[in-house]
Amino acid sequence: MRPRVAINAAMSLDGRLSLNTGEQTRISSDEDMARVKRLRAWADAILVGVGTVVSDDPRLTRADGVLRVVLDTHGRTPEGALVMRAPPSTLIATGPDARVNAPVGVEVRRYPLDADGHVDLVPLLEDLGAMGVQRLLVEGGGGVIWSFLRSGLFDELTVFVADMVIGGRATSLAMGEGAFSLDEAVRLRSADITRIEGGFVLRYSPPEQGGPSAGRSAGPAPGDARPGAHGDGKRV
Ligand SMILES: NC(=O)c1ccc[n+]([C@@H]2O[C@H](COP(=O)([O-])OP(=O)(O)OC[C@H]3O[C@@H](n4cnc5c(N)ncnc54)[C@H](OP(=O)(O)O)[C@@H]3O)[C@@H](O)[C@H]2O)c1
Repeated sequence: MRPRVAINAAMSLDGRLSLNTGEQTRISSDEDMARVKRLRAWADAILVGVGTVVSDDPRLTRADGVLRVVLDTHGRTPEGALVMRAPPSTLIATGPDARVNAPVGVEVRRYPLDADGHVDLVPLLEDLGAMGVQRLLVEGGGGVIWSFLRSGLFDELTVFVADMVIGGRATSLAMGEGAFSLDEAVRLRSADITRIEGGFVLRYSPPEQGGPSAGRSAGPAPGDARPGAHGDGKRV
């Protein structure tokens, strides 16, 4: 059974995840950072794409350690990246032919490719489930979020929409190929909206929770944006 998958991101009102320079920027307010911290406490594993590792070099750590997962088809994760530093442990999920010089504490697992030539999420999630991961937090970036949304392999999407506009061509919430017709657009069910410092937190579910495309997931729901949620890993 696949883990329960929560996607989280912070974006500007116009859907941008970063500045036009591509450099890391903090879109979240202090209150939103506290919400993200609670969400991380809920998760057994945190996943990002190699694009985020290359541009932001995130640490993705938590005081008690959490499994970090990087989607990296061709083994582009830089040797000096912070996710390569142990502890905690890191899983680099690659395609069948990638070569990665992984230090101790970093595991490389190879997966088949999907139709777009990226790591196929279905066997990866099955594998994570078999490893005991029940709750997976997907933290971006735009390419990875698109893949999870399009495949229906998620249980919740939470977005902090900051009171700001970035404009230009900066990475957006969902990149990838995108939809070319309304039929291809990913439909969502809005669950709730919460006003917090610096913006709104929007929470969505897939249209058919547990439907055939979503597959079955295990573990409790990530919860909501209210203070106190996620703190003990339970929905409030
Ligand atoms: N504001 C926020 O909340 C937030 C959070 C995270 C990131 N960001 C921003 O987002 C930007 C990075 O986003 P990005 O879209 O460029 O990169 P990304 O989504 O982090 O990574 C995309 C890359 O992951 C690899 N990948 C492997 N398997 C994949 C799969 N199944 N689906 C999709 N990708 C897969 C692909 O590269 P290969 O083909 O080489 O494997 C792909 O190009 C940065 O500017 C960062 O600052 C913002």
